[in-house]
Amino acid sequence: MPREIPLIGERFPEMEVSTTHGVYELPSDFKGKWFVLFSHPADFTPVCTTEFVAFAKRYEDFKALNTELIGLSVDSTWSHIKWVEWIKENLGVEIPFPIIADPMGRVASKLGLIHAASATHTVRAVFIVDPKGVIRAILYYPAELGRNVDEILRMVKGFQVGSKYGVALPANWPNNEIVGDRGIVPPATTVEEAEERPKKFECIDWWLCHRELPPEDVEQARRFLERAAKKP
Ligand code: BEZ
Repeated sequence: MPREIPLIGERFPEMEVSTTHGVYELPSDFKGKWFVLFSHPADFTPVCTTEFVAFAKRYEDFKALNTELIGLSVDSTWSHIKWVEWIKENLGVEIPFPIIADPMGRVASKLGLIHAASATHTVRAVFIVDPKGVIRAILYYPAELGRNVDEILRMVKGFQVGSKYGVALPANWPNNEIVGDRGIVPPATTVEEAEERPKKFECIDWWLCHRELPPEDVEQARRFLERAAKKP
């Protein structure tokens, strides 16, 4: 039977989930906020532990972007609680966000998180969901490579700036090789608009126009990129 998995641009599937912070209704409990749901293959595994610490250390950065974090794995709540305790006692880091317990794989199956490498453990997925409950991005990583959490922050920031100023963001934004830290104006849809574009914006051609973005937004995104490149 073909699996129906959620796609970018669709509403996040409605579901009730059990977490270490109680029961949540997704996506409605995060209405008016962004949320990042991220899955990991299993509790008490090394790469997952490094990821949890990395997400926890950037929790306040997500908060500053009006963004909540929620973890997920096919482990039980008891396992999550014990693992979170272990992280605090041994690494001195508190995990401040809820973790979904999904021992039956019900949520994992709805979200398409079981891939070819394992029939029982989820891949490392990331869903970035906007304040209306619409999925704006989906990332999949395998078990053997931890995610770059600063890149996820840069993505959230990029979506927020894009929505606010009606622009798309170029490769490596805000350090793009062609347009620098500027936003790309959406393509013209009529001949008249195409003729007007170069009068209103800086354009390399009528279909590649760009505009300035507020320096404070650009700087915040740049800090995420810079931190990603720096030794901790
Ligand atoms: C890890 O997080 O280290 C891991 C998880 C699942 C399989 C292999 C490694």
